Amino acid sequence: MLKITNLEVKVEDKQILNGIDLEVKPGEVVAIMGLNGSGKSTLAYSLAGHPKYEVMGKIEMDGENITEMSPNERAEKGLFLANQHPVAIYGLTVNSFLWQIYKKRNKEKSSILDFRKWLETQAQALDFNPELLKRGLNDGFSGGEKKKLEILQLLVFNPKYVILDEIDSGLDVDALTKIAKTMAAVAKQRQIGVLIITHYNRILKFLKADKVVVIEGGKVAKIGGPELAVEIENNGYKEEVK
Ligand SMILES: Nc1ncnc2c1ncn2[C@@H]1O[C@H](COP(=O)(O)OP(=O)(O)O)[C@@H](O)[C@H]1O
Ligand SMILES: [Mg+2]
Repeated sequence: MLKITNLEVKVEDKQILNGIDLEVKPGEVVAIMGLNGSGKSTLAYSLAGHPKYEVMGKIEMDGENITEMSPNERAEKGLFLANQHPVAIYGLTVNSFLWQIYKKRNKEKSSILDFRKWLETQAQALDFNPELLKRGLNDGFSGGEKKKLEILQLLVFNPKYVILDEIDSGLDVDALTKIAKTMAAVAKQRQIGVLIITHYNRILKFLKADKVVVIEGGKVAKIGGPELAVEIENNGYKEEVK
């Protein structure tokens, strides 16, 4: 279980999170919603260990205290953050980037040829043009292609827990559906705990949330079931949160 206890976070001396308690069990999908500026990305980055954030409270993964660990150590333990704004690296092809991750993360190694075959199948299942695997990382990729590459990376990385920060922003409905369905299937198969930050119920139609948590002013303002996300999409936050 990913367990967050009384998490307080400061950035540049400004208090942003004010005591958040949250749990994500293996195979569980927890959706985080909230107005712009409520602290959702701060939560995501603090969990991933971004050095900019000054953290108090406790973050545990499967019983281990990871609060003070570096981002790399957390990743090695199986925590994966899908970025809201993935970066481009021009000299590094997607193929070799993902092969490096695969080698690091998997004890039983298949040959590079078998890996490439598997990767192409995964890419096709996501409607991600396999030709893009030969290009530089995110080099000239569209918004949708970048988000799909985050999911491909996740499949190769094989995390225990993932944080998806607005993976649905800027996606057309086909890409959104593909990503959500892939994520739902993989989370179930591999029993991955998913923390998904979103503004919309749309993605949750295919990636069903077990729990919906609304954050307001750096605090948990409301917890509910999937119906809470539907209500928020229809009526906004004002009626629901207050
Ligand atoms: N580096 C920073 N310096 C100062 N304030 C920041 C910094 N990063 C985020 N904030 C502030 O923290 C609040 C929460 O931001 P964020 O976590 O990005 O919200 P959300 O993802 O919910 O839209 C905002 O008021 C934002 O301006
Ligand atoms: Mg954000």
